[in-house]
Amino acid sequence: MADKLNFDQPLVEEAREVRERAYAPYSNFKVGAAIRTGSGKVFRGANVENISISLTICAERSAGVAAVAAGELEWEEIAVVAGTSRPTSPCGACRQFLAEFNPNLKVVVANQDEVFYTTTVAELLPKAFDNETYKSQAVD
Ligand code: THU
Repeated sequence: MADKLNFDQPLVEEAREVRERAYAPYSNFKVGAAIRTGSGKVFRGANVENISISLTICAERSAGVAAVAAGELEWEEIAVVAGTSRPTSPCGACRQFLAEFNPNLKVVVANQDEVFYTTTVAELLPKAFDNETYKSQAVD
């Protein structure tokens, strides 16, 4: 596991700030995420729920689509902040989504008061279905 103390503190603050913008009237479970890209830019996202519950988009994917829309596909680090006393780490769907852009993406898991740990997408999603696997299909 990556070093707990080795993370981007301003990135965590960005995630804490944007968490306030979460639209979570159904769960009241607000999450903020901030992604730092290779160019040093930061893209923020919060969870957005919907009355048709399954349409909910998580904070991590919300931040990710903002980065892609800005043409920023090289992601270095993501901070994820929830209001829980235990670590809220990205859901399975978000792990796969993040792996598309960088399996070695650093993931910082925090709440408003503390940082619980840093890890990587590869640690969160071992043996992932990835592009190399996809390309290795035999021609038939
Ligand atoms: N959620 C996130 O945005 N990110 C996570 O890492 C965990 C869950 C959201 C989805 C939903 O709006 C609410 O939290 C409760 O699951």
